Amino acid sequence: MDRYAVFGNPINHSKSPFIHRLFAASLGEQLEYDAILAPLDGFADSWQQFVAAGGKGGNVTVPFKEQAYRMAEILSARARQAGAVNTLYINEAGKLCGDNTDGIGLVSDLVRLGANLHASTILLLGAGGASRGAIGPLLDAGVKQIVLANRTQSKAQAIARSFDHLVVACGYTDIPSIPFQIVINATSSGLTGERPDIAAEHLQHCQLAYDMLYGAKPTPFLQWAKLRGVAQQADGLGMLVAQAAEAFYIWRGKRPDIYEVIKALQEQLTA
Ligand code: ATR
Repeated sequence: MDRYAVFGNPINHSKSPFIHRLFAASLGEQLEYDAILAPLDGFADSWQQFVAAGGKGGNVTVPFKEQAYRMAEILSARARQAGAVNTLYINEAGKLCGDNTDGIGLVSDLVRLGANLHASTILLLGAGGASRGAIGPLLDAGVKQIVLANRTQSKAQAIARSFDHLVVACGYTDIPSIPFQIVINATSSGLTGERPDIAAEHLQHCQLAYDMLYGAKPTPFLQWAKLRGVAQQADGLGMLVAQAAEAFYIWRGKRPDIYEVIKALQEQLTA
């Protein structure tokens, strides 16, 4: 049976095996999907062992995405833009290929939520890997302008430089006073029970507040957005499932339906 796996450290919390097994069952694909705990200094060895044992493809999560990027012999355009790889596979010529489906996963989820991306203006908060990977796919989907705001402004500037005038970088106190239809939190602030410290005026025209994190309860950012009257709030569970669906498509050439899997995960989280 074809074998796939997600590599990370830690990996216990990973929902990827659950998601990919549901995808496979729904499409009648025969495959195995495991979670592999790679030692912090041993990702390359873990991957090699997996391939030697017949492994066909992998997902890569924290903290190995940049290392996977350096390991890949062939990089997709979106992996190059993100500077990180979350999907690995071996092509017919035996070359190790790296792709990044996180950004397109975000776009698919925004579309699922009914967001009108075309000609929209987006406020993107945070300047880590999560933001970097999202910008290219958002622009490809027709977004008119992205304001990239980060607590540490210089990091936002470093990312914006590679995207020309379509991405404007700033700190939290000098965000331009323009209407944002969508505000996306790509910071890890929710992990410590915080939210990005931006002024409420930036939510005034916002129809959708999105947090890339997810959990049993709405994140502090989503709670705040609701309090401030944003009509729709969504966490990153849909993005997680959608990025997995893109990886599945790369490996198997079949597109799984994400709706049922998101529902199953939501039920699991709130059980
Ligand atoms: P990832 O790869 O998941 O994006 P990262 O590279 O560690 O993670 O980046 C974390 C992001 O969250 C950064 O933009 C960080 O802001 P700084 O660059 O100023 O450190 C942001 N972040 C983390 N905690 C935050 C908080 N409490 N408030 C605002 N931003 C926060």
